[in-house]
Amino acid sequence: MHTIFITGGAGFIGSALVRLLVQETDWRIVNIDKLTYAGNLESLAEARTHPRHCFARVDICDRPALERLFTEFRPSGVIHLAAETHVDRSILGPAEFIKTNIEGTYVLLEAALDYWRTLDDSARRDFRFHHVSTDEVFGSLGPQGFFTETTAYDPRSPYSASKAASDHLVRAWHHTYGLPILITNCSNNYGPYQFPEKLIPLMILNALADKPLPIYGRGDNVRDWLYVEDHARALKLVFERGQPGATYCIGGHNEKTNLEVVDAICALLDRLRPRADGRSHAHLKTFVADRPGHDKRYAIDASKIRRELGWQPLETFATGLEKTVRWYLDNAQWVEHVQTGEYRQWIEKNYGSRS
Ligand code: NAD
Ligand code: TYD
Repeated sequence: MHTIFITGGAGFIGSALVRLLVQETDWRIVNIDKLTYAGNLESLAEARTHPRHCFARVDICDRPALERLFTEFRPSGVIHLAAETHVDRSILGPAEFIKTNIEGTYVLLEAALDYWRTLDDSARRDFRFHHVSTDEVFGSLGPQGFFTETTAYDPRSPYSASKAASDHLVRAWHHTYGLPILITNCSNNYGPYQFPEKLIPLMILNALADKPLPIYGRGDNVRDWLYVEDHARALKLVFERGQPGATYCIGGHNEKTNLEVVDAICALLDRLRPRADGRSHAHLKTFVADRPGHDKRYAIDASKIRRELGWQPLETFATGLEKTVRWYLDNAQWVEHVQTGEYRQWIEKNYGSRS
């Protein structure tokens, strides 16, 4: 039986990956997560108590704790998702981004390399260190063109710069020390269990609470949206079948302006949860000051992963968005726990600062 480390497995994408792997493989999953404000064990649903899921509350900057985990569990691979991820937070306070995304990735690489060197030849060949990254490392596109695996790095926000730095470290550990790595660069994700500071859940929950829907600038920035479960399937495929040392771009070919996204959410809510006063939720749209350095457009050319590994998304933007809106309507308790801090209090009571 394989044992796999997933870092950041209590976050939005990590928890989708843990739920998928518990369901579709016989692997033992060691979920390594510090449980920052963005980590939530409730997002794991049934996977949380599954006998093949094991949770370790560990900071990826804590080398001795990581070494203990490698020695105890002897994994055959790592899928690394733990990160600080919200661009607006990175603008207000970059320090945590530098710490977790750059230093944390470095510490994890060192712990993984030390462990990898203790393996026999065949286990070394089979080991994978899969680093999960973002298309934001490539910077901002004009109206034409797509990011591919060979696009030059040009990060512009503290978040994307910290992710770019971590990508470079991971590649350096491959070229210099031979660690068998994989890197995936994915476009914007959406779906269930996303922390409500990101565009789509924020808009859904603000609309339901009759609060303004804050649209930065003119709302004409473009993102390429991918349903989170499609991303999780892509990660599983790359981890199992990707070429060591290779990069794969992952995206949904769902380019939308922010205004189109907000309008689509309002239309879904008007149908699924009409307002008592009969007005459209769209009347809550409010244009606010733009994000400093706001990247104009992201779009992924995902032909390599489709051609080489046969991956393609199962959801269109319309089907994925409807599933997402329905999920937020049906999971008011998860939302309430996240918003009221009840979950954080539960964590402190049950886990304290224990690692
Ligand atoms: P998230 O913010 O929802 O979750 C991040 C998780 O990492 C949380 O559970 C948090 O507790 C954990 N974490 C943070 N700092 C840690 C530390 N020092 N040690 C251990 N755990 C720590 O993020 P997400 O949206 O699920 O993104 C996961 C990964 O995917 C990130 O690396 C991100 O850069 C990448 N990514 C995200 C998107 C997206 O649209 N969300 C797109 C492409 C790539
Ligand atoms: P976000 O979900 O923060 O993802 P990212 O910045 O990593 O792409 O934002 C998605 C887009 O939505 C981005 O262009 C910024 C915009 N946005 C708003 O217009 N209003 C908001 O309140 C937020 C959070 C984002």
